[in-house]
Amino acid sequence: MEERDPRCRPIGVFDSGLGGLTVVKEIVSRLPHESVLYFGDTARVPYGTKSPETIRRFSREAVHFLLSRQVKTIVVACNTATAHALEVLVRETPVPVIGVIEAGARAAHHASESGRIGVIGTSGTVGSGAYDRAVRALRPAVEVYAQACPLFVPLVEEGLAYHEAARLIARDYLAPLHEVQIDTLVLGCTHYPAMRALIGEVMGPSVRLIDSGEETALEVARTLLENDLLAPEGNVPTRRFTVSDLPLRFRKVGRLLVGEMIEDVEKVEIEGCRESVG
Ligand code: DGL
Repeated sequence: MEERDPRCRPIGVFDSGLGGLTVVKEIVSRLPHESVLYFGDTARVPYGTKSPETIRRFSREAVHFLLSRQVKTIVVACNTATAHALEVLVRETPVPVIGVIEAGARAAHHASESGRIGVIGTSGTVGSGAYDRAVRALRPAVEVYAQACPLFVPLVEEGLAYHEAARLIARDYLAPLHEVQIDTLVLGCTHYPAMRALIGEVMGPSVRLIDSGEETALEVARTLLENDLLAPEGNVPTRRFTVSDLPLRFRKVGRLLVGEMIEDVEKVEIEGCRESVG
């Protein structure tokens, strides 16, 4: 199965579930010649409420799986996994590994005039303080207000991102950020762009929303170029989607996010997953 020309191998992308598709969408639109192999760990979603050790173990298993399918680089399209596992993954993995937090922090730094930046994410991402550190590294005199929104991920996974319940929950979660008058809000979880219009409506037009997917796609392009791994123009790209559970459901809800790019979805057994899902 090994591609002879390493440039023609796919970009591996993983997330706990559907959220990373928002990053795939940006990668595909910026790099249309590139093949993508996606893995959504749907058997074990959400990651955001789990311990750093568990997230590191799941992330290593996802990387191991993607490497077994000969990917040329790996995008950790999950803020929670980036916060807790990126460092070890970069150290241990023989291909370039790219996370989403630095990209989001950079975009927020460029967008914010007042230096009052909000970040919403999973409990794991917010608890890690990773955004706070990443934004401060770029701009020390900044106020970062972080808010965990743990119910957003299940709402997106259930295809309920625009349900009335989502609106009520969003109002409740986002109220504290209103009070501190941020001018920029980082969607610090790759699931959240799926509810972007709703979050924008609740925050109002004076707050700029940052989706790290776009900036991450730029980072992927730069990394491939630097490593002489950009797919040649004539490459016929493939887009493959794999999950650890319920492929049909992933296909149905995933198509709401990225459209017909998702054809077949393959259920795979990844190392460690079988025991933990029982
Ligand atoms: N989409 C992921 C993130 O960016 C994970 C959400 C979850 O599984 O809790 O954090």
